[in-house]
Order: sequence, then C-alpha cells, then structure tokens
Amino acid sequence: MNQTEKIRKRYNRVSRIYDFLEQPMEIMALKKWRVEVTKELRGKVLGVGVGTGKNIPYYPDDIDITAIDFSEKMLLKAIEKAKQLDKKVELIHMDVQSMEFPDNIFDYVFTTCVFCSVPDPIKGLKEIRRVCKPNGKIIMIEHVRSDKKVFGLLMDIFNPLIVNFYGANINRRTEENIKKVGFANIDVINLTGDIVKKIVIYNEK
Ligand SMILES: C[S@@+](CC[C@H](N)C(=O)[O-])C[C@H]1O[C@@H](n2cnc3c(N)ncnc32)[C@H](O)[C@@H]1O
Repeated sequence: MNQTEKIRKRYNRVSRIYDFLEQPMEIMALKKWRVEVTKELRGKVLGVGVGTGKNIPYYPDDIDITAIDFSEKMLLKAIEKAKQLDKKVELIHMDVQSMEFPDNIFDYVFTTCVFCSVPDPIKGLKEIRRVCKPNGKIIMIEHVRSDKKVFGLLMDIFNPLIVNFYGANINRRTEENIKKVGFANIDVINLTGDIVKKIVIYNEK
C-alpha cells in the first residue's frame, strides 16, 4: 500500500471520532481561527482537506465554494454537515496532489490543519499554485515543527506514533515547503508559539 493510501485509510478510520478528538482544540482556539480565515474569502474559492466540514458553518453565503478531501468517510461527514446547515458548497472526493481542476480558476484557496497530513506536501502545494489564479490568495492555518531545539526534537521523536494513529505529522516544515515550490510573496503570523501559523501566500506567477 502506498503512503497516500495509508493516510487516506487512517482518516477514514478516525472519521467517526474526529470531531470528538478535536473538540478541546476547537474550543481553545480553532473556532476563532476558522471564523477569521473564512471571513476573508471572496469569489471562487477552493477549500482543501475539508475533513468533517468544521469550517462549513462559517462559509460566507456570497462565495462560490468547492471543497475537496481524499478521505471519502471524512467527506461524507462534511456532506451531512452542509445539508444540515443548508450551506451551498460543492463537495468533491479528490486528492490535492493531483487535482482535476484546470489551471488558474480559483481566487482563493484555503486550508486548515491539512498540510500536516498531505502525503507529498510539495506535490500538493504545486497543485494549489497551479489552480489558484495569478494574484489569487492562498490562506493556510497549519501546525508545523517548532524551531526550538528541544521541542523540535521531541516532535521528531513522537511523530511516527502520531502519524500511525492519526495520519497527521507534527513535525512538518510547511513554510520551507512553500518556499520550495516557488512561492515568494508570503506573510507568516505565529498563532500559538512557533507551532501554529497563519500563512498567507500571494500567488505571483
Ligand atoms: C487534520 S484533518 C483537518 C480537516 C479540516 N480541514 C479541519 O480543519 O477540521 C486533515 C484533512 O485533510 C485531508 N487530506 C489529507 N491529505 C489529503 C490529500 N492529499 N488530498 C485531499 N485531502 C487530504 C484528510 O483526509 C483530512 O480530512
């Protein structure tokens, strides 16, 4: 089984308890960040890694939004949530590493806690760059590896355990990956120490 299959299956497995497991983080901080990020969205928008649809309640009503996930069981939860909330969103089973969208069609692309688990983050980021319009905006809330010596090392040590259970890495170097794919105009705001970041990318092509 390749890495993409493995991670997809892990998210299928945790889909039933995902909302429960995330609840403490949701109450402490995530909800606030979701509200903040979704408020900024305009025009034709792509949500990557929609998961169980935790951002759906906050989608503005006047945007044209499509959201994708490669875990069909996480996606099913998002579909239920959108129905319950009567939110208009196109939910598609798709892998960010090989998207079926044409080039340059989205004004905004956004992610919340997704690039910790995309199996090949460089591939995924290149695809986002491709589908986002020139001068479009990419907004990401992502947790990353700490640059602090001891904490970063602990994250490296415990990472295999977390990936095995959950599918998410706690030691991703997402900022470095973003630069590797050629994005040059980036704003980074630390939200929780140097671990959770809001990253805004201006898609200059
Ligand atoms: C930690 S969850 C976050 C879900 C949601 N964004 C949130 O804020 O609650 C990560 C999600 O990204 C999805 N994901 C990971 N890799 C993906 C990929 N290559 N393509 C599409 N979705 C992916 C997983 O299936 C999972 O639903």
